[in-house]
Amino acid sequence: MALGEIRHIGVIGAGQMGNGIAHVAAQCGLNVTMVDVNPASLEKALATVAKNMDRQVQKGTMSADDAKAAQARITTSTSMDALAQADLVVEAATENEVVKKKIFAELDGILKPEGIMASNTSSISITRLAAVTKRPERFIGLHFMNPVPMMALVEIIRGLATSQETYERVAEVAQKMGKTIATSEDVPGFIVNRLLLPMLNEACYALQDGVADVKSIDTAMKLGAGHPMGPLTLADFIGLDTCVAIMRVLHQELGDSKYRPCPLLVKFVDAGWLGKKAGRGFYDYSSAEPKPYR
Ligand SMILES: NC(=O)c1ccc[n+]([C@@H]2O[C@H](COP(=O)([O-])OP(=O)(O)OC[C@H]3O[C@@H](n4cnc5c(N)ncnc54)[C@H](O)[C@@H]3O)[C@@H](O)[C@H]2O)c1
Repeated sequence: MALGEIRHIGVIGAGQMGNGIAHVAAQCGLNVTMVDVNPASLEKALATVAKNMDRQVQKGTMSADDAKAAQARITTSTSMDALAQADLVVEAATENEVVKKKIFAELDGILKPEGIMASNTSSISITRLAAVTKRPERFIGLHFMNPVPMMALVEIIRGLATSQETYERVAEVAQKMGKTIATSEDVPGFIVNRLLLPMLNEACYALQDGVADVKSIDTAMKLGAGHPMGPLTLADFIGLDTCVAIMRVLHQELGDSKYRPCPLLVKFVDAGWLGKKAGRGFYDYSSAEPKPYR
């Protein structure tokens, strides 16, 4: 089946990543349909795209007319039926294999046969997600970094059955969105999270073991290792639920105890302290200056 140029992109999940993917896709001229089960997430996503594009206009990196035109290219829906005619659908829903498999199985019956499916998963097997569809050759991993409009990288992951044509169409559109590609094998965590998440998890162990307080751990890695953000701030930014989900995938699938999620990190998630998106994680974000937990 010949695959055409990607002009219309669907995004499932309008959270932190979904709004960023919609932003860069609309900015490069694609039509975007964003779908979420939660109407409040869709409203918040549109407001975030508008706010972030306004910032680009203030900085002079985008014209006001282009920002307006880009926002007009984004439509939203709570039903996946709105994705039927998309050329590519990128799923960016919660990092949970059961949720993602359900989405792809349903989408398979809705999306036009030549439509490509992609997952923005941070760690889950692309081959396993593809296997719930009847189009594993048109299924791929497309892993953007957070925040999507700012971060230059996208990882592309071929599942066992992904066709070369699917890879080429998706690589083309990723480049059109201004991203640089790193191609990873379909292994837990791919490249970035295989290396990054164990470091963030270790920072949680350092806090749990009383090595230092939150602020000292972050300052040490910022100034001592040249990281732009301390590891606990970064974990809050990613979402602590997403961090635990990725560590569980690394732990279960690589079978090495060095990947076990830190109990303190799990406790934060159990408390609903999911990081910046929840207003509280290793820092409390209720005031202008985030306050460290300990
Ligand atoms: N946060 C990061 O730094 C980051 C970076 C790269 C990739 N990712 C991956 O991107 C995905 C999304 O992460 P996020 O940080 O945006 O999460 P998030 O919690 O901000 O948003 C998830 C969204 O998915 C929606 N959702 C849940 N179930 C759904 C369903 N069945 N159908 C439609 N929408 C549904 C929720 O309502 C929510 O709006 C995850 O797979 C995550 O691993 C996250």
